[in-house]
Amino acid sequence: MLRLQLLGSLGIALAVPLAQFANASSSVTEATTSAAAEEVSFNKKVVPILKRRCAVCHITGNEPGNMALTPNSAYDSLVNQRSVQSNLLRVNPGAPSESYIVHKLQGSQAEAGGIGDRMPYMAPPLSSKQLQLIETWISQGAQNN
Ligand code: HEC
Repeated sequence: MLRLQLLGSLGIALAVPLAQFANASSSVTEATTSAAAEEVSFNKKVVPILKRRCAVCHITGNEPGNMALTPNSAYDSLVNQRSVQSNLLRVNPGAPSESYIVHKLQGSQAEAGGIGDRMPYMAPPLSSKQLQLIETWISQGAQNN
């Protein structure tokens, strides 16, 4: 009887930390998977960045750069539109490294066959998180979502 009780409590003592370990590692896996699969909404995530950091200059499409980045015009100005500065598309759906906007935001426009300055012009760059959002949206097919 005593021996059984001892074994029983030993079992619980071992099972508790194992269960905690299993829970912890499965929640880490879930978090990683959902972050990778999470769809980036153009209207909820990308438009607010363009509105705040770009639309002050790219207003009507008649300014240098020739594209309006205001909320209602940004999608049509960017997706599948040829850049005026390079042979790339501004946004090439599925291919962030073939999208001129990504090079302009990173400052690699010259290597991509383009000209001019890093965007936003004469202002601090986007954060790496903002840049990542834009690249993820492009690699997910640059949907008007
Ligand atoms: C202060 C004004 C200003 C702001 C803010 C600005 N731009 Fe520009 N943009 C320009 C000017 C001027 C040019 C042309 C000269 C150059 O490229 O350096 C240009 C050119 C561009 C081009 C090239 C277009 C083409 O077809 O080749 C892209 C792409 C661009 N901007 C994207 C952006 C994005 C995205 C933002 C916001 C993150 C932004 N710009 C913010 C002034 C601005």
